[in-house]
Amino acid sequence: MSLKGRDFLKLLDYSGEEILQLLDLAAELKAQKKSGVPHMLCEGKSVALIFEKTSTRTRCAFEVAAHDLGMHPVYLDPSGSQIGKKESIADTARVLSGMFDGIEYRGFGQDIVEELARYASVPVWNGLTNEFHPTQILADMLTIREHFGSLAGRKLVYMGDARYNMGNSLMIGCAKLGVNFAACAPAEYFPSEELMDAAQEIAAETGSVLEFWTEPELALRGADVVYTDIWVSMGEPEEVWDARIKALFPYQVNAGLMSLAKPEAVFMHCLPSYHDHKTIIGRQVGKKYGLDALEVTDEVFESPRSLVFQEAENRMHTIKAVMAATLCDL
Ligand code: CP
Ligand code: NVA
Repeated sequence: MSLKGRDFLKLLDYSGEEILQLLDLAAELKAQKKSGVPHMLCEGKSVALIFEKTSTRTRCAFEVAAHDLGMHPVYLDPSGSQIGKKESIADTARVLSGMFDGIEYRGFGQDIVEELARYASVPVWNGLTNEFHPTQILADMLTIREHFGSLAGRKLVYMGDARYNMGNSLMIGCAKLGVNFAACAPAEYFPSEELMDAAQEIAAETGSVLEFWTEPELALRGADVVYTDIWVSMGEPEEVWDARIKALFPYQVNAGLMSLAKPEAVFMHCLPSYHDHKTIIGRQVGKKYGLDALEVTDEVFESPRSLVFQEAENRMHTIKAVMAATLCDL
C-alpha cells in the first residue's frame, strides 16, 4: 500500500501493517547502503529540518538519509529562524510548503507538529515532541527484529519516566506490533489514563499484553528487552532532578535488574545517556547525588547485551524509509 503524501506524526496514525511496511523498506535500504547500491529514490527534492530542541542522531539521520535519497536538506536550528517568535506555525507551514517537498519538526507540544501538518501541503514528520518520538520507535523495532529475528510475542520493559515521549511511543508501537510491553516506575510516571486506554484497545486486537508495574522484579519477568531513557528530558527545568532521582533511582538499569530479565535479554536506550561522568550534566548531577551513573550503569551500557549503537545507526535507515515512503514513487 502506498504511504505517499502521508504525514508521520505519531504511531497512533499508522496501522501495524503500515509500520511493518516501513520496517521492511528500512531493512531493504540498509542492505543497499551496506552493499554500496545507490538508492536516490527522491532525486531533486528538498526537505526542511526544523529543530527547536537540540539533536545529534535525529538531525544527522535526516541529513544523511536525505543525501542518500538524492535530496537537499536545509537545517533550521533552535535559534536561527523566525519560527514561533516572529512567525506563527501556520504561516511557517505555508511558507515552507512553497519551497520544500517535506518538513521535519522537533520541538515541544505534539499540538505544534499537528498544527504544522494541518497547514502544510507537504508531508510533515515528527522528529520528537514532548509526547511522542515515533521515528525512534521504528529504529528500536528494526533493531529488535534484527537481533531476535521477530517482533510479535517478544516482551519489552520500559524502566523509568514512562509518561513522556519514549514511554508513550514505545507503548503504542508495541501494542501496534503485537509486542508485549511493561512500564515500570512509580505509578505517577505511567502514561496518561487516556493513552493507556487507547493502547489497551489496540492491544486487544493485536494480542499484545500491556502491563504497568511499580516493582522491577515483577515487571522484568520474561523480558527480552530492557529499555530506559534519561530521567529529565529536553525542555524540563533543572529543579526536577531532585524529585526524579528520588523517584526513579530504584529503576536504574544495573546488572542486578538485568539479571531479573531473560538470560538472553538485551539493553536498549534511545540516547543520549548519562551512564558515566563524561558529560557535563552526568558529572554535575552524578557528583551532587553521589552517583556514578543515572538511568543505566556504565557496566550495562558497555556490556555485550547493549544494542545502543546498532539502534542509533538504525535511526538513519528508518528515517530514510519514512521519507522515501511518504515523498517518493517506490
Ligand atoms: N535519540 C535521539 O532522538 O537522539 P537525538 O536527541 O540526538 O536526536
Ligand atoms: N526523553 C528524551 C528523549 C531524547 C531522545 C527527551 O525528550 O529529551
